[in-house]
Amino acid sequence: MDGTIVEVANLTKRYAVGGKTIVALDHLSFRVKRGSFVAIQGHSGSGKSTLLHLIGLLAFPQVGQLWIDGVETATLSEAEAAAVRAKKIGFIFQSFHLLAHLTALENVVLPALGDVAAAEQRARALLDQVGLADRADQRPGELSGGEQQRVAVARALINDPVLLLADEPTGNLDAESEQLVLQELQQAHRHGKTVVVASHSEVFLRVADRVLTLQAGRLIDDKEEVTR
Ligand SMILES: Nc1ncnc2c1ncn2[C@@H]1O[C@H](COP(=O)(O)OP(=O)(O)OP(=O)(O)O)[C@@H](O)[C@H]1O
Ligand SMILES: [Mg+2]
Repeated sequence: MDGTIVEVANLTKRYAVGGKTIVALDHLSFRVKRGSFVAIQGHSGSGKSTLLHLIGLLAFPQVGQLWIDGVETATLSEAEAAAVRAKKIGFIFQSFHLLAHLTALENVVLPALGDVAAAEQRARALLDQVGLADRADQRPGELSGGEQQRVAVARALINDPVLLLADEPTGNLDAESEQLVLQELQQAHRHGKTVVVASHSEVFLRVADRVLTLQAGRLIDDKEEVTR
């Protein structure tokens, strides 16, 4: 296993809408270094979410290849892809995607692999880490947006994934909540996780080791920290 955690080669995603074809990603190729913090920027519609969904194995390309932690993903069955996703990838969405009828603790435990009692202990520790130990038994509707997103961060970390993907994670949050989510992602990064964040927000661009810029499904800029 080398220093690459994600590799995409010629990745192409098209959507067919009303007889038209939209090219959301156009033969995209790049590698992500293990342990790096990568920010993806680009105008609305440039393909950021599509790219994160492909890397997160939530959608699949028509053309091209994707390796996650050395595993070539195109030949995986649905069950194998789900296993890679559960074990290696944590995903954070703009709109939190918590289940409304479950408590914060239950939401964090939900994707856990292995022993339930051990998972609950890890979930409590993660809720404590994100500052929500005293909110464990509240449902999403009884939490602020910022709190819900911190629950979602805890959920993304429950299986200790090597890769943390976040799609506009602070798009619905105020500046203060944004800082808290940023700090959690930075802490995960310090603990060795690879973090990839798509966002319009400046705060991620400032802390990232590398900024990729998409335009119309193509990579038009790729800056490492030293050259910025
Ligand atoms: N499910 C879909 N069906 C059809 N077209 C889609 C679908 N999802 C995205 N697209 C199109 O693909 C292109 C890329 O969309 P994508 O959501 O990846 O952009 P984005 O960079 O995340 O934008 P934003 O900053 O607004 O979140 C856009 O032209 C969009 O309209
Ligand atoms: Mg998007």
